[in-house]
Amino acid sequence: MKITIAFGCLLTAASLAAQDSRQAARQEETRACIQCHGLRLIHSQRLSTAAWGKEVDKMIGWGAEVKNRQLLLDYLAAEYPDTKPLPDDPKSADGRKR
Ligand code: HEC
Repeated sequence: MKITIAFGCLLTAASLAAQDSRQAARQEETRACIQCHGLRLIHSQRLSTAAWGKEVDKMIGWGAEVKNRQLLLDYLAAEYPDTKPLPDDPKSADGRKR
């Protein structure tokens, strides 16, 4: 029983830490990536980890001020990997396809 509780606490701590870093990464993304385009352009991509690395470096080359590259990269690779299906077609506000 004690072991179960201790394990449960560990899991909770681990998932809280993961949530923290996801939130920090989202803040970094919002700070560094929306000066030139919206987040949808980023979130509609599905890339491998290596491709995300190239993408972020390309954006840095174009002027994105990324402070924590690794944090951002881990987040992008985890949330938008090339193994995840693409989102639905973008719709205009009235629900019709653009
Ligand atoms: C200095 C301006 C600028 C900043 C800052 C910027 N981008 Fe971009 N990004 C662009 C331009 C320009 C394009 C091409 C837009 C288009 O094709 O409509 C682009 C396109 C993209 C694309 C689409 C694929 C491609 O390469 O065309 C992704 C993904 C992307 N950016 C990710 C990011 C991420 C992640 C960040 C934050 C680290 C970021 N961008 C910050 C200028 C910027």
